[in-house]
Amino acid sequence: MQRFDTVIRGGTVVTAADTMQADIGILNGAIAAIGRGLSPGATEIDAGGLLVLPGGIDSHCHIAQPKRGTPVVSADTFESATTSAAFGGTTSVICFSPQFKGGSLTPELRAYQETARQSVLDYSFHLIVTDPTPAVLGELPALIAEGHRSIKIFMTYEASRLDDRQVLEVLAAAREHAAFVTVHAENHDAIRWMTTRLEAAGLTTPPYHAVSKPPLVEREAIHRIIMLAELLDQPIQIFHVSSAQGISEIRRAQERGLKIHAETCPQYLVLTAEALQGEGFEGAKAICSPALREPADQEALWQALRDGVLGVVSSDHAPTRFGGADGKQAFGAHAPFSKVANGVPGLETRLPLLFSEGVVKGRIDLQQFVAVTATNPAKLFGLYPRKGSIAIGMDADLAIWDPGCRRRIANAELHHAVDYTPYEGMEVTGWPMTTLVRGTVVVQDGARRVEPGFGRFLARGPYPAMQPRGVFPTGFDPFATTG
Ligand code: URP
Ligand code: ZN
Ligand code: ZN
Repeated sequence: MQRFDTVIRGGTVVTAADTMQADIGILNGAIAAIGRGLSPGATEIDAGGLLVLPGGIDSHCHIAQPKRGTPVVSADTFESATTSAAFGGTTSVICFSPQFKGGSLTPELRAYQETARQSVLDYSFHLIVTDPTPAVLGELPALIAEGHRSIKIFMTYEASRLDDRQVLEVLAAAREHAAFVTVHAENHDAIRWMTTRLEAAGLTTPPYHAVSKPPLVEREAIHRIIMLAELLDQPIQIFHVSSAQGISEIRRAQERGLKIHAETCPQYLVLTAEALQGEGFEGAKAICSPALREPADQEALWQALRDGVLGVVSSDHAPTRFGGADGKQAFGAHAPFSKVANGVPGLETRLPLLFSEGVVKGRIDLQQFVAVTATNPAKLFGLYPRKGSIAIGMDADLAIWDPGCRRRIANAELHHAVDYTPYEGMEVTGWPMTTLVRGTVVVQDGARRVEPGFGRFLARGPYPAMQPRGVFPTGFDPFATTG
């Protein structure tokens, strides 16, 4: 009779394909058996009446990310951010090692790797490229080969944006060295122009953030990045899609067979631009980019999750405090919107919000929930088949949910180091009770059960989703060696 380290007994096991009543036997950190009436484990976890889901993979979160040229700092450490994520049912995170203009990638990465050693969860990195000089592009092959298989680029933000020529250089380097590319897509010049006009008119309070960057600036940039990716046949993922107009560009590209992937985030599904209207400066809490939209955009996002146009829901966790001189008020308690640090925190609330607003309200089903929060990000970023589902041999990364647990979100009860949540007071149904990473209980009974440093770096090799199609629009292969 096989003896397991741990057996999770009597739960309803859910994957992106199936729902079944089964026990899960765990041995040496991996799933060793799925069946009924499994033999005893050294540890037994009673999951009667509960759901057993693959642990969430948050493939877009800013954790203790260094910044330059701004007084704004990350409130979270790796310890606080990943603890918070674990309490919300997430088991792996992919965060960002930045490059700063004029600098190089490798020293920043080495320093970031040191910081990440305090992680409670398993982790991997996207490399942000802001200045693709020949020297920086020359650093990429070795870093990619080390397991950093994804590159993030920006089409806006003064400090990080690339022009189209630079975008092409990065896409080409990624294609040549087998890396995936993720993109923040907004038209920078249009936003700057609108911002200047709004400022000249004295319209600088938080609601004008959304006016400065309407859906069409996202639509145009998505259209352009799809064209650039198509030109040299490089698969990409478009980050934080917020609008119906953005969705229609992506849908059209996917219908043409292009490998264009896309994600959205809970803030775009749950909040609208109304959140920017809060009393006094409260609206600044909801300043993020792209901006929050209208109910019709939310409907388009839910539909796109149902039909697979959007394949991932990440948090885009941006741990900026609201108060203090290093947060959203760094430039004053009534700073113009253009001076307010962008982004909202959300590692811990990502899964409960999507479960409650999506599954409980009947907008998506349990399989779609697991797909967009775990299985799809694992496949898109090369963590599958080690992570992202529940199957024999996979890491036992699991979240055990009470689907009937009702909670009112309160920042005081969250585990991040940020002083607010944009979801304060929202009622949700469903919350993870126990989180396991590689078979070890990380969170149970409201307490963290592992020390910082338990998390491991996840090196990623080449994987199917990143493979180009081998189709060029002109018939000319710009990557063929010429004689
Ligand atoms: O507003 C946002 N999304 N802030 C975080 C950084 C980014 O653009 O992803
Ligand atoms: Zn972004
Ligand atoms: Zn982001």
